[in-house]
Amino acid sequence: MSIDVAVIPAAGRGTRMRPATRVVSKALLTVVDRPAIQYAVEEAARAGVKEAIVVVDLDTGHLISQHFSLEGPLPGLEDVQLRPVVQEEPLGLGHAVNAAAHMVGDRTFFCLLADDIVRPGHDLLPSLAAGSHDGRVSVLCLRELTDEQLVTKGVAVPASEVEDGYLDLSGAVEKPSLEAAPSRLGLLGRYVFTSEVFEILEQLEPGRGGEIQLTDAINELGRRKRLRGHVATSDILDVGTPIGLLEASVVLGEHQFGSEFSTWLEDERES
Ligand code: G1P
Repeated sequence: MSIDVAVIPAAGRGTRMRPATRVVSKALLTVVDRPAIQYAVEEAARAGVKEAIVVVDLDTGHLISQHFSLEGPLPGLEDVQLRPVVQEEPLGLGHAVNAAAHMVGDRTFFCLLADDIVRPGHDLLPSLAAGSHDGRVSVLCLRELTDEQLVTKGVAVPASEVEDGYLDLSGAVEKPSLEAAPSRLGLLGRYVFTSEVFEILEQLEPGRGGEIQLTDAINELGRRKRLRGHVATSDILDVGTPIGLLEASVVLGEHQFGSEFSTWLEDERES
């Protein structure tokens, strides 16, 4: 099953990254030598995506579009059509994804949150697509998390044992307390969705924090027995917080510059 379209929500203002995000949107914050969102588009391109729908806000959408088009296509992205769509109001992640509904139509699609960057050599989208029963069910990317991480993520409700890295899910809860967490399996920001998710998002009432929560739509997919999970074997770099951005810069910097940077880092630690 090949999935040729990705939705990349990039309209969030990034309150956890203030003051950096007072003017610049968090999707445009630099990690090593490129904005965070470029990593997501590159990852989608590696998975065979031909169309990347980027959900932008009114203020910064034009900057994101310009980044990808100003001097011609970026290397490696020549075959990807970048299509911006504006989320008119900041009503939550579910609302942002739903802004792409008319462009996706009835296709099964990848969804990538630009806050989360995969480790080099550890792409997650192929395993999600492989678990989607030929694009007929939605698949979440999951990872066993620490207590500290768990309360900051959506958490999956398992409906089966894990077999060969996959399990059936009956729902998900957005940022539960530790006591209320239905499992240790947190949602990383990578998903395969069938177009059914749009029909659910359309009807959804505001949830946690008064926002239209993507996790609430996921929960409904689980209730309908249309949801699976894939337990990833590698973690993901979360650039949505200052320390996460710093960690991602070190990991991606070491990957890009090799011993030139690693040697400096070791010397620095010892000094
Ligand atoms: C969002 C989702 C959450 C998911 C997380 C992944 O939260 O709402 O379910 O686990 O991304 O990073 P946010 O990080 O936007 O608060």
